[in-house]
Amino acid sequence: MTRRLHINLFIHGRGHHEAAWRHPAASPLPLTDLRYYTDLARKAEAGCLDSVFLADTLGVGEDAAHAPRTWLEPVTTLAALAAATTHIGLIATCSTTYTEPFNMARQFASIDHMSRGRAGWNIVTTWLATAAGNYGAPSPLSHADRYERAEEYMQVVKALWDSWSDDAVLDDRASGAYARPGSIRPINHIGEHYRVAGPLNLPRCPQGRPVFVQAGSSDTGRRFAARHAEAVFTAQMEKATARDFYADLKALAASEGRNPDHVLILPGLSPVIGGTEAEAQRVAHELNDLSDAEVGRKRLSGRFGGHDFSHLPLDRPLSVEDFPDPATVQAARSRTEVIIGLVRREKPTLRQLLGYMAGARGHYATAGTPEQIADLIEDWFRDGAADGFNLMPPILPAMLDVFVAEVVPLLQRRNLFRTMYSGETLRAHYGLPRPALLFGDGATAIS
Ligand SMILES: Cc1cc2nc3c(=O)[nH]c(=O)nc-3n(C[C@H](O)[C@H](O)[C@H](O)COP(=O)(O)O)c2cc1C
Repeated sequence: MTRRLHINLFIHGRGHHEAAWRHPAASPLPLTDLRYYTDLARKAEAGCLDSVFLADTLGVGEDAAHAPRTWLEPVTTLAALAAATTHIGLIATCSTTYTEPFNMARQFASIDHMSRGRAGWNIVTTWLATAAGNYGAPSPLSHADRYERAEEYMQVVKALWDSWSDDAVLDDRASGAYARPGSIRPINHIGEHYRVAGPLNLPRCPQGRPVFVQAGSSDTGRRFAARHAEAVFTAQMEKATARDFYADLKALAASEGRNPDHVLILPGLSPVIGGTEAEAQRVAHELNDLSDAEVGRKRLSGRFGGHDFSHLPLDRPLSVEDFPDPATVQAARSRTEVIIGLVRREKPTLRQLLGYMAGARGHYATAGTPEQIADLIEDWFRDGAADGFNLMPPILPAMLDVFVAEVVPLLQRRNLFRTMYSGETLRAHYGLPRPALLFGDGATAIS
């Protein structure tokens, strides 16, 4: 079978460039207006994209006065998007550290039912240090503790999603049998962090379980992804590191006894697209001119768990010594490695580094014509760096519009991308199997 690209639209602010919200081509709608999200999802669906994704952080950043960080709560927004679309996959973040597994399993099963099999869950452990204060935690959990809890969390939610057999619901009005005897079972989980009796109070969902997406790229994060993820979002600043990441994660998945084809690697791509290269560069410059270095400095500090960069001059070349050791960072460790890797390779000034980060927070940002963007996508896809992309338009909706109108047709003509949906579920779009039921561990069924 011909290998095809997978493309997810990552909806974030009025675009992924830090200054997008101020750009005249960005949407005039407030970021709390549901129409903004439904319009974007429908546009992505018109372009036959696999899925849309809504991220989530559980607190307000320090830059709230200078950059829009408000967005609607993602799971409730997915419910609205399920009603507004028919085919496109619907992925949202939910935190293993700050959400009870029963709540999470129930909400995503509901979204999968409402959308008839289009739900995906982005599994995060929440790196944002200030989130702890919103959930009654005295201090943020360490990186290692978060991943350890997440491992047990996965056991619990998988068991909950499997607590009803596929054929449990009879709904037989004549005989009065709603469910098949023996087909609904408690899970009786008693672990170090969770005690959950189950079963879930909802029949098994169309996809069996939502598609598991994950985006941790540290060593621990990669091993977690290799065990559980079916799609992996990753921030890579160049093709060489993307290829290493791709090879490493596929090998790790194989070593966990999984089929590496069932773990899709989707690096972020944030393209400014113009009719000519000069036009694309002009828009990229407009965006950079609207950025505020001091906002960037605060965001950099957040990435490093609150490290103080206020003393660093903007225009002297940086060195690795200006940063804390990534191994000591308890926040988003892999992103700090990406940043320090860039500093080691290119020795940018702080102003230049903040310029890169403003583009797409450490993801691959570029500017070019539709042909150049299609060439880049094809090159990474064919050269072992990606199974597709997490599309992060720098300005929304303008750069999504041009991607769908100009880049998608080029990819379709090259036979790299679908021209219509051939399935109904997110698993079908991503080419993933429906998980077998982990049923029958001896638990007594509810009769
Ligand atoms: C595309 C992408 C989306 C992400 N979305 C979220 C999110 O919505 N919420 C969150 O807390 N972290 C999010 N993250 C961060 C990751 O879950 C993870 O914490 C981060 O990549 C650091 O991984 P590590 O802890 O394994 O180093 C995202 C990362 C990427 C690359």
